[in-house]
Formats: sequence, structure tokens, C-alpha cells
Amino acid sequence: RKKVTLGTLQSLYAKNEPITMLTAYDFPSAHVADAAGMDVILVGDSLAMVALGMEDTSEVGMEEMIVACRAVARGARSSFLVGDLPMGTYESSPTQALSSAIHFIKRGRVHSIKLEGGSEMAPTISRITSAGIPVLAHVGLTPQRQNALGGFRVQGKSTAGALKVLSDALAVQAAGAWGVVLEAVPAAVASLITSKLRIPTIGIGAGNGCSGQVLVQTDMAGNFPPGRFLPRFVKQYGNVWAESLRAVEAYRDEVKRREYPAPEHTYPMKREEFEEFEK
Ligand code: KIV
Ligand code: NA
Repeated sequence: RKKVTLGTLQSLYAKNEPITMLTAYDFPSAHVADAAGMDVILVGDSLAMVALGMEDTSEVGMEEMIVACRAVARGARSSFLVGDLPMGTYESSPTQALSSAIHFIKRGRVHSIKLEGGSEMAPTISRITSAGIPVLAHVGLTPQRQNALGGFRVQGKSTAGALKVLSDALAVQAAGAWGVVLEAVPAAVASLITSKLRIPTIGIGAGNGCSGQVLVQTDMAGNFPPGRFLPRFVKQYGNVWAESLRAVEAYRDEVKRREYPAPEHTYPMKREEFEEFEK
């Protein structure tokens, strides 16, 4: 497969072919996403929760994101790579954001950064894109701001709310973002916003009318213990956790019964050599 570039994504958008995007957090999760032909791999700050076991994304820092991005870059041969700027590394000023973005690109080896926020982030997005760093914007439900939003709630449900999401999307487009993630927005609102933009929208919980879709790999592959809360928009395509549990339990049982390792898992030795050793 040829390397996916921003040009590839723009031509998919022009052809009205959906852009596929999935998160990854390490070498194996990047490898599987790339092997399956994902157009874009996102090293999301959802890493905090699904890979590091933290309460929310506010705890994760630049260095942890960079370790993950470097591992993903080693595992992905063709997909276009986007990394989330973590909370606290870009909100203070466009200058802070630009230096974080440069550091992130140089050390993390991703092709684009993503940051959360709408019209208030426009000057920041334009500063970063002016430096030649592609920016993917993220509006609607922005998890880094969950405390201000009153939790993980659908955005743009009222007329005023929908107008706010639309004006945020238009503002990040005008600022030079190459695309915009629409998270947890009514499908009809996301479709209408998509039709008003000239850059791709990547939906998560935003219906089928977006230019592409993104999901958290851990969620869609079912790589979590039973009982985890899943948002309505997640479709679970696999059950990786159950398969891992089955394998580890089988290993445990075979060790306890002395069935593993079997002869085919052991190294032989010449009888004469062993008899000499035994003396
Ligand atoms: O952190 C993340 O995984 C994300 C996507 C779900 C859009 O931001
Ligand atoms: Na994120």
C-alpha cells in the first residue's frame, strides 16, 4: 500500500469516499490498523483511559503521548498519522501551541496534530498551520473540556447548540484545519455541517453523513473487561478481551497440570552428553 498523505485524504474527500480512521496507542495496535488499511491512525489522548487506566484525558502528558506516537509510527507503514496534543500543552497561547506542536511532530513522528476547540482556537490553528504543520480540529463534544461541558453530553441538540457547532466548524476551516472531528452531535446536524464545509468532517457519534468515521480501537475491538460503559455510538466488532482471557486461562490450567511445556516446546540434548553431565 502506498503511503497515505494529506493529498490522498483530499482526493478521497473529493471522490466522496469515506475516510477511515482508528486510534492506536502502541506497536501492535498500530500494526493491525495499518494492516487493515486504515487511511488515518489517531494516537488519541483516549490513551489515558483505555491504555493507561487513568480517570480521564486530563492526566496524560506530552511525554507519554510521544512514547505512544513513536511506537505507533514504528508499527504503521502507510497510514497517515495524527497525534492529539494533550490538555495543557496548547491552550495558553498560539505561541505555546506552536512550540508544543513542533516538539510533538519532531519527537513523536506523527504527520499532523489534533487539538480540541472551535472558534476560540482559530488563531492557534492558523499559527500552527502557518508553520507547515497540518491540524485536525475537534468540535462538538470535546472530552478535555468535559468539566466545562457538564460531562460527556451530546452537543448541538438545540438550535442554538447546533449553530454553535456549525460556527466552530466554519472557524476552524477558515483557520486552515485540514479536517474536523465532530464528536457526539445529532446526525442531521453533522450532515448539514458536512455539506457546508469544504474540508472533511470525521464523525464519532455524529451519524453517517460525515466525510469519514473514527472510533477508539479498544472499544470497537472489544478489548476491555465486561461491564465497561460504552457510549451509544460505539459498535463492538470483536471481543479481543474474551479471546485474551481464554488464552491466559488455558495457559494457567496447562501449567498447573504440568501439560505445558510439552516435549515439542523443549530443547533436546544428546544422551551421552547428558549422562556425562549427570555424573
Ligand atoms: O482521543 C481520542 O481517541 C479521540 C477520538 C475519539 C476522536 O479524540
Ligand atoms: Na482525544
